[in-house]
Amino acid sequence: MRKLFLDACNGEKSKVPPVWFMRQAGRYLPEYRALREKYRMLELCTNSELAAEVTLMPIKRFDFDAAILFSDITMPYYCLGAEFSIKEGIGPVVENPIRSESDVNLLKENTAQEKLNFISDAVKILKNQLSVPLIGFIGAPYTLASYLIEGKPSRDFKFTKSLMLKEPLVWSKLMKKLTAVSLSYIDLQIEAGVDVIQVFDSWVGGLSPRMYEKYISPYMKEIFSHIKSRNIKSIHFGTSTGGILDKMKSVGADIIGVDWRTSLIEASIKVGKNVPLQGNLDPNFLLATKEIAIQETREILRESEEIGSFIFNLGHGILPTTPIENVEAVLAEIRNYK
Ligand code: CP3
Repeated sequence: MRKLFLDACNGEKSKVPPVWFMRQAGRYLPEYRALREKYRMLELCTNSELAAEVTLMPIKRFDFDAAILFSDITMPYYCLGAEFSIKEGIGPVVENPIRSESDVNLLKENTAQEKLNFISDAVKILKNQLSVPLIGFIGAPYTLASYLIEGKPSRDFKFTKSLMLKEPLVWSKLMKKLTAVSLSYIDLQIEAGVDVIQVFDSWVGGLSPRMYEKYISPYMKEIFSHIKSRNIKSIHFGTSTGGILDKMKSVGADIIGVDWRTSLIEASIKVGKNVPLQGNLDPNFLLATKEIAIQETREILRESEEIGSFIFNLGHGILPTTPIENVEAVLAEIRNYK
């Protein structure tokens, strides 16, 4: 197995950094769009052979240094018995949003082992075929809670913050249920063979450091200490997290993912010089010209020389209209750096 990515996760700095892209398996790929003509998103996620096939698409095309399991952060909703769908161009939509104690009480507590065996089957298929490490992932309890409570993607997280602030006991009950299912889901993926786990707390950057400390940290500590106890490295990612990066490190993650709103150097100062970082090209650069994308890639590579070990990634998921040739150009630039 090619180990460049795992070496960087372990803190080893290389001349040419490993590279993979968040949402690398998705709609910018013509072969993915062709498959989506036949199957809905959730059909792809719940069919192990198809999920494995989609995971491999970007590896075959671009030879990324790591694969990420094709799935979605919403899978644990099957364990909770929460009715949801993924609406094209919108994201996860939950039928009956969870906004009261009785709503929380109604959530079931099935484990991943009871409901998500299609995920472990997909991981097993992939481990037989991949020659690069496989990243498993979960959505963090806060980001999972935000879709459950808002019912759909949100800008202000009004209902989520209101529940947290006005009903702290209900909030903690919900977070405990989400944490429990997350732990079983982590175990399922590790036992099936994933090499690293990325925890997506995509929307947590909307919280103040004080709110993070009070309403989020206890659950994240449990999650990261669980991953650590299984001897697997963890990556912790969110967007707009410049104000809470130190907190996100202190809950126990090994590698910190940063978006483009924070420079790598500033992030490194905040989380500690020896902490491996992953990021942080704004995916919009891939929509500009090749030359513009390459220039920014070089800026990031130059900056990465000043920090500890580094994994090249985007600052958030690749956008659906990204031209394939721009991805190729950026990858060539990274691999020929220096
Ligand atoms: O990175 C990868 O290639 C692996 C696959 C992956 C998907 N979702 C596939 C997907 C991963 C790691 C995710 C995680 C995910 N899902 C996150 C965390 C990462 C992030 O972007 O912040 C979040 C917040 C979700 C929830 C979600 N699911 C959103 C916001 C959307 C996009 C809605 C849209 O259509 O723009 C989805 C759907 C989704 N998840 C798609 C894919 C490929 C698009 C499905 C399609 O229409 O084919």
